[in-house]
Amino acid sequence: MSDVQMGRELLGETAIRDKVAQLGRQISADYRGQELLVVGVLKGAVIFAADLVRQITVPVYLDFIAVSSYGKATRTSGVVRILKDLEESIAGVHVLLVEDIADTGLTLHYLRENLLARGPRSLKLCALLDKPDCRRVEVPLDYVGFQIPDQFVVGYGLDFDGRFRNLPAVHLLSREAEKK
Ligand code: PRP
Repeated sequence: MSDVQMGRELLGETAIRDKVAQLGRQISADYRGQELLVVGVLKGAVIFAADLVRQITVPVYLDFIAVSSYGKATRTSGVVRILKDLEESIAGVHVLLVEDIADTGLTLHYLRENLLARGPRSLKLCALLDKPDCRRVEVPLDYVGFQIPDQFVVGYGLDFDGRFRNLPAVHLLSREAEKK
């Protein structure tokens, strides 16, 4: 793994902070007068969800769901299963599903179908990052922070092999071996 390093910064802290604030304002306006359950998808969305809920001014509840991971590969296996479920029923609840990134769309597609079957009052999808070129299944994204090209990114919750989640900005992944 020593050949994998943090590469060029793609999205800086200020750009991310401004975008999260903008999303928070938009979400607060859209859900005005209502309560909202924000569901973060572990682990990648934990940083984004933590920042986003602090920019939302309507009453917010917070829960998390965990699904199977890519593991050490950088491409999805297409297999999604729930590793940790929500703590309470979402029947009759306004739910906002929050992801760090929509790549193939398989994770959000699976979670959307799964959560819709539980009878929420409404379900919307929010992703900080969107890689539209990578989509294998269409998912309706209601809130998107940034559209980015098909490059592996880390930081602000996103990892490679468990590393780099703590970076405050989003960076490209640099593989020294590929430069040779
Ligand atoms: C990443 C990311 C999304 C998913 C998006 O999770 O956090 O959940 O992949 O990819 P997709 O659109 O191709 O499904 P990952 O499986 O790496 O787990 P993590 O959140 O724990 O890092």
